[in-house]
Amino acid sequence: MRLLVTGGAGFIGSNFVQHRLGSRPEDEVVVLDKMTYAGRRENLDGLPADRFSLVEADICDPEAVRRALDGCDAIVNFAAESHVDRSIEAPGEFITTDVYGTYVLLEAAREAGIRHLQISTDEVYGSIDEGSFTEVSSLDPSSPYAASKAGGDLVVSAFKQTYGADSLIVRASNNYGPQQHPEKLIPLVILNAIHGDPIPVYGDGMQVRNWLFVRDFCTAIETVLERGQAGQVYNVGGPDELPNIEVVRRILDLAGRDESLISYVEDRLGHDVRYSLASEKTEGLGWKAAVSFDQGIERTFNWYRENREWWETLRSGEYREYYLRQYGTELAGPAS
Ligand code: NAD
Ligand code: TYD
Repeated sequence: MRLLVTGGAGFIGSNFVQHRLGSRPEDEVVVLDKMTYAGRRENLDGLPADRFSLVEADICDPEAVRRALDGCDAIVNFAAESHVDRSIEAPGEFITTDVYGTYVLLEAAREAGIRHLQISTDEVYGSIDEGSFTEVSSLDPSSPYAASKAGGDLVVSAFKQTYGADSLIVRASNNYGPQQHPEKLIPLVILNAIHGDPIPVYGDGMQVRNWLFVRDFCTAIETVLERGQAGQVYNVGGPDELPNIEVVRRILDLAGRDESLISYVEDRLGHDVRYSLASEKTEGLGWKAAVSFDQGIERTFNWYRENREWWETLRSGEYREYYLRQYGTELAGPAS
């Protein structure tokens, strides 16, 4: 297969491309990515040049998408503005990329008569106090990010319903692992712990997330791409649910730091209290998560410790300005 992987220079997309080119030695991958602050060429270093290429373009540009799609057998769409806090600060780009951009890709896939797999999130369902969301749970997004993803998902479903397009959706819980931008909780805590910076915990830190190691999500995506049915939604949840404060404590332990670094800060607006996904439908296709949180967090911590050059430039650029706007404090502390 030749896949068009949109948003493939970001966190999950680049892990998927690495996984796919390794697991399918005959396959080719074209990544189309706008290279926003979240897209990084380093994430795609070392891939086989005869089976991989990168096109710098916007998914909202129909001509660029059509050109990149030439000869491809499917689109896997990771491209999105992806951070809840940034969506609270400035929602416009989220609606453009996550809704309109998805529509542009769907049109191109329909024209070419190929499959479109939409990568989506549990956040479209909103918050759940008890039990887990299934694929038939209603959509009730809280943040502008979640609403933009829900909008994209509805366009995907409408394309199947209206035009009979070969489009389907996979919705995952919170991912973590190598190459995740430090705006997100786990890499933020790891890097702040390494540097001895205060660790901002929103509200009381008792919000629960259902953590999924990124390589487990990659195998789930592959399973759904190959065995999923058009028009269907597939949930992919991680094996462990933990309150944020517990996640922070585990990372402090790994870093050999004590809890004095924890700094409780003002809560996020519209903060969802708990996410939880039931994955039985995806497991029915033959997928199973293989990595527990204890294993995954140690692998992730070690990756950041050993890949200093990956994050050193990040901490000095746009992220530094964002951090100051978001937290009202400078990133401080030399790396130890
Ligand atoms: P990310 O922010 O790390 O990567 C997004 C990528 O999309 C970047 O490379 C960026 O440059 C690219 N991009 C943004 N706008 C674009 C545009 N207009 N055209 C082309 N490329 C564009 O995000 P991620 O964490 O890797 O998430 C990937 C996908 O998975 C997203 O759709 C997200 O909603 C979904 N998802 C993420 C999580 C998670 O925990 N990170 C969980 C469930 C679902
Ligand atoms: P995040 O990684 O932004 O993912 P999401 O909002 O998509 O779940 O946040 C995970 C959880 O961690 C969420 O409950 C918000 C919380 N959080 C903090 O407490 N402090 C922070 O600095 C960040 C970025 C997140």
